[in-house]
Amino acid sequence: MVYLHERTWWKEAIVYQIYPISFFDSNGDGIGDLKGIHAKLDYLKDLGVDVLWLSPIYRSPLADMGYDISDYRNIDPRYGTLEDWDTLLHGVHDRGMKLIMDLVVNHSSDEHQWFLQSRSSKEHPKRDWYIWRAPNFDSSGQKRPPNNWRSVFQGSAWDLDEETKEYYLHLYVSKQPDLNWENPDVREAVYDLMKFWLDRGCDGFRMDVINLISKTDGLPDAPISAPGEFYQPASMYFANGPRVHEFLKEMNEKVLSRYDIMTVGETPFTHDASALAAYVLPKNGELDMVFHFELMDVDSPMEGPQRVPLIKKDWTLEEFREIIVRWQLYKRDEGFWNAIFIENHDHARAVSRYGNDSPQWRALSAKMLAVLEITQGGTLYVYQGQELGMQNFPRSWSIEEYKDVASQNYWNRIMKKRQEESGNQNVDMSDVLDGFAHKARDHARVPVQWDASSNAGFTTGTPWMRVNEDYRTWNAASQLEDPSSVLAFYKRALKLRKSHPLFTYGEFSDLSNGHLQVFTYLRTLGGSHALVLLNFSEEKVHFDLKGVENLDTYQLLLENYESQEVKSTKLAADGRVFLRGFEAKVYISG
Ligand code: GLC
Ligand code: CA
Repeated sequence: MVYLHERTWWKEAIVYQIYPISFFDSNGDGIGDLKGIHAKLDYLKDLGVDVLWLSPIYRSPLADMGYDISDYRNIDPRYGTLEDWDTLLHGVHDRGMKLIMDLVVNHSSDEHQWFLQSRSSKEHPKRDWYIWRAPNFDSSGQKRPPNNWRSVFQGSAWDLDEETKEYYLHLYVSKQPDLNWENPDVREAVYDLMKFWLDRGCDGFRMDVINLISKTDGLPDAPISAPGEFYQPASMYFANGPRVHEFLKEMNEKVLSRYDIMTVGETPFTHDASALAAYVLPKNGELDMVFHFELMDVDSPMEGPQRVPLIKKDWTLEEFREIIVRWQLYKRDEGFWNAIFIENHDHARAVSRYGNDSPQWRALSAKMLAVLEITQGGTLYVYQGQELGMQNFPRSWSIEEYKDVASQNYWNRIMKKRQEESGNQNVDMSDVLDGFAHKARDHARVPVQWDASSNAGFTTGTPWMRVNEDYRTWNAASQLEDPSSVLAFYKRALKLRKSHPLFTYGEFSDLSNGHLQVFTYLRTLGGSHALVLLNFSEEKVHFDLKGVENLDTYQLLLENYESQEVKSTKLAADGRVFLRGFEAKVYISG
């Protein structure tokens, strides 16, 4: 059989993302930990995943939940010790799985030794490890940041160091100063810490905002796209910058190519396919794949060049489908490889966004989305709780329950603006909370719902974040017992993906023909074909299959409804298909 893509383990892998603080708490302090992950390895093996990706567990002040690292070579005591990590790794490897770590090297924590030294004086050899600039002055002689860049989490992207009277750049919060990748010593230090983990047995990296490591020369002011505001979205000057590919080629040459590992880059702020492909195409020798955010952005409005993630925008199936189809077809002949995901720790729950989380449709639409995921070409990622159909927490939760710094900063900024505009302290924020209820990152960060005991069995103590009350009926223990559960469906679906290489490697062709509710496609590899039918609406719909040959050879492989009204495992000879609300079906031939 001829494969367009060379086969490798990481292409076929099903990756499961763990957000450790909310996964499972082994010692009752309310915080998930490494021993907790170890305790659930059999659950994960049984689910059918191959690779575990851990969101950061390094020592960190947790200003951005560990995406602010103060020691790259140690585990935060809240999560455990290096020995616990070794034990976990053994447990993972013993079960035939692999473990990848989150590499967060666009920035460190301001509590990292490197930054403490860098800020200590202008003369310190590590001064140039971060991005320091002299202040600007306004007409009244007041100090101003060196440019108008807005930090991704609001406010200026610069902070003044009072001692040395210079500003440092932080694309995220002030406690996340950006490393200066222009400095070769910084790059060597990063490569060293990567080797530290790889030599210890780690099987690869997910690379945090890796497309931001090179900034445009001269750090020019961003054009005004948010009129009336001082700080402007500036991703055109910090995403996919001039030297990013040079740096990644160097990293590949010096580190990645020397190990049998997998790498996936997180590449936000760009929808430009050819810019993203440059990181992935095998001939470039950089990364194995990247996470693009087009699908995640489909329900976010634009503000100048950037999306506003915390406001909900309506989306259509047509837009959604067009994005998936385009990426499924993109540069296959050159070996471009996709990363397939619909949830992670930075986004609200998929069933609440792209499915329908009302009681009638929740399980069905969660399963329909599972089918969408397992039938796409690329490496598949599943986020913790996705396999249980975990949904957003309720709109009735108040702002106090939102622990994410991105939510809090956004809330405070809007509130302040409204207070200033109205001269009144009491301003209506209900529309902002509406947006949060749909879109906030917090929804993905509540504890995993393990069983019906108190706190969803996540902890015997007080959980760091409130548990969603629906755990009493929606939890892993009860779903393990129930063959019709979302979890049981995931297990079946993941197994099918693994046993049919066409889902991972096959050609993709869209057959949807502009249908308003249905997404239909054919996957083909050699002589085998899979036909996927997905109804994205609550309505009963008809679909006419056109252009599919030998309809009579197709057999039903997977469906999300338990019982067929008309029991049939075949397609109708005339190609007319009837789908119930959120129904998903996969047929296979050859
Ligand atoms: C990535 C992470 C996100 C974090 C940001 C800054 O987008 O996934 O959680 O806030 O980088 O490190
Ligand atoms: Ca704990």
